[in-house]
Amino acid sequence: MSEQQSTTITVLGAGYVGLTTATLLAHAGYTVYAVEPNEARRTIIQSGKSFFYEEGLSPLIKSAIDANHLIVTDSYEDSIPHSSIVIGAVGTPDNPDGSMNLSYVFSAAQQAASLMNDNAIFVQKSTVPVGTGKKIQEVFAELQKNIFYVSNPEFLREGTSVHDTLYPDRVVTGSDKLTAANKVLDLYKNLAEHRDEIAKIAGIKPVKQKTDSQYIATKLASAELIKVTSNAFLALKISFANSIAKLADSVDADIVDVMDAVGADKRIGRAFLNAGRGYGGGCFPKDVSGLIASSLENGVDFDIMQSAQTVNQSMPGYIVEKLQNSVGSLAGKTVAVLGLAFKSNTSDVRKSPGVSIANILIASDATVRVYDPEAAEEATLDLHSRATIADSIDEAIADADAVIIATAWNDILSYPAESFAKNMTDPVLFDAVNSYDRVAAQQAGLTYLGVGRRAS
Ligand code: UDX
Repeated sequence: MSEQQSTTITVLGAGYVGLTTATLLAHAGYTVYAVEPNEARRTIIQSGKSFFYEEGLSPLIKSAIDANHLIVTDSYEDSIPHSSIVIGAVGTPDNPDGSMNLSYVFSAAQQAASLMNDNAIFVQKSTVPVGTGKKIQEVFAELQKNIFYVSNPEFLREGTSVHDTLYPDRVVTGSDKLTAANKVLDLYKNLAEHRDEIAKIAGIKPVKQKTDSQYIATKLASAELIKVTSNAFLALKISFANSIAKLADSVDADIVDVMDAVGADKRIGRAFLNAGRGYGGGCFPKDVSGLIASSLENGVDFDIMQSAQTVNQSMPGYIVEKLQNSVGSLAGKTVAVLGLAFKSNTSDVRKSPGVSIANILIASDATVRVYDPEAAEEATLDLHSRATIADSIDEAIADADAVIIATAWNDILSYPAESFAKNMTDPVLFDAVNSYDRVAAQQAGLTYLGVGRRAS
């Protein structure tokens, strides 16, 4: 029997991270229980599908379920006692004051620990503030359980979670017990052995990696800090780009040209320097505020992160203001917002800039029509009730005075400039992701505006 076949794993929580991890480890040969309390979600997964939009995940779920390598349950009792590794991937929602609600993290760990065998490993995959692992270890000690705690931060991006898990830049584990940290790294090394065949089932392109993934085992607190530091640094890059974009708007420079040249410096890199409507999603906003809170708690001054957050929060309003400067008062004008997901290729609308832009437009008395190919339904909760949801781009932009592209979906970016011009009254195209073909827009007679750029 191979090591994989003899190892049973339980994953707690079948969200973006948990379901992807559980499914892929099942394909690496492990028997994996995915514990999900939500019945509707369980029913969908059981039928061989993902309940959220994620490229390649559904076919992998289906074949893992059919092979009985992935078992979906709501029961800790039926799964945990059989498992030598338990992976926590439960949600960390926001508290009303913006801080992270860790109650699910603690209750999942506590409940799991009471059922775990001695010498089993508890792996933390939920993103938690630095120091959380230490507190959970105290809970284990109170229960008089000899359980090894390993932090295993998750770096997958939504929309490309299968790809990112199969072909990671690095896998990080952190623990007070190095053997446990290494044991968790072995899961991913085994997964890497199968990655090309798994990619095939998923229908995603196998990648020839220039360099192998790095496998890093370190101290517990270091691993916890690595995750939030990575995300905070990327958020910092975005807010830096957006600050330069505001300056570019004032001095009539073009932010895309600026960042192309700046990013060509290998020490800086071009990634995450795309100016636009700012970052959203379930990770960056939360990780940035989490890092600010951890710093304050530890008496460390972190103004730079505070500023990054302020800049980000200013972007939707900045965009509406720039539109107003171009078209005059928005009262009575019709504006179409194309894109409600926080980024393309996901249906996730958490902290979505597109939704904020729509709501600010409504507060400015504009009539607002919104469109998103995947996220319209999820967005209804956060959208102002006066926003009208359109089923197509054509419907959203019909006789509109302006269009704002808020998510870089392919079908929005490839929508012909002539069709925008034909369907709209006073054709202003605000490209809030700086990704639409500006020349085509201009040639079609549209007034093109971007963030830190405009038509020349
Ligand atoms: C992020 C991290 O990339 C990932 O490693 C971590 O595990 C989870 O958080 P994700 O939230 O899925 O992943 O999205 P990502 O692709 O990183 O984009 C985050 C936000 O930044 C999106 O709203 C995106 O539109 C925005 N963004 C990204 C920019 O505004 N400009 C950029 O240049 C890049």
